[in-house]
Amino acid sequence: MRGLFITLEGGDGAGKSTQIKNIKSFFEKKGLVVVHTREPGGTPISEKLRDILLDSNNREMEAVTEMLIYAAARAQHVRELVMPQLEKGSIVICDRFLDSSIAYQTYGRKLGDMVEIVNGYATDGLTPDLTFWMDIDPDAGKERVSKMGDFDRLEMEERDFHYRVYDGYKKIAENNPERVKRIDATHSVEEISEEIVNYLEEICEKRGL
Ligand code: TYD
Repeated sequence: MRGLFITLEGGDGAGKSTQIKNIKSFFEKKGLVVVHTREPGGTPISEKLRDILLDSNNREMEAVTEMLIYAAARAQHVRELVMPQLEKGSIVICDRFLDSSIAYQTYGRKLGDMVEIVNGYATDGLTPDLTFWMDIDPDAGKERVSKMGDFDRLEMEERDFHYRVYDGYKKIAENNPERVKRIDATHSVEEISEEIVNYLEEICEKRGL
């Protein structure tokens, strides 16, 4: 049986890492094999592309170049890691996936339809079974990130960019109510964990897991 593909999305500083641990332990308790990965990254080639994307020295990078490198990293990740693991029946938890490209490149960079077209090839049509969107206001997110140290290339973007990304996520959530679950990231860690576990129990019941 095919495994489950679960992704986490949200602006910078939304608290995804804590929830990834929560999701991982939920499935491990059921005795399932869990693979935790991330985008951009997840394979040696994709991690090298990640370094290029996040390097704050790469200021001259064009928006189209950026979009294509994210897609290239994804194409490799999907084929080398995600699909083979899903075929083996693993639970794959991925920190960011295609929705990030829609939010950051389509809306943030205003690249339009080309992002979805290119990513159709990159993902080979793979869509997550469940996506948690950690909803946090961009200003509040920035405040959290600034406490953690240096900004990467994307985090250094202007405020308007982050608000466009935020609007992008809102639209993605509105257009995909079955798949994308909005989580209010201002709630306490305990409340968020419980909310997420409820959704996980729901999908497990549906899939007989
Ligand atoms: P990362 O440090 O993983 O961000 P976070 O800790 O906030 O999840 O850096 C990934 C950055 O790349 C993040 O700012 C979002 C951006 N990104 C895109 O612009 N497009 C994409 O397709 C993906 C996967 C990420």
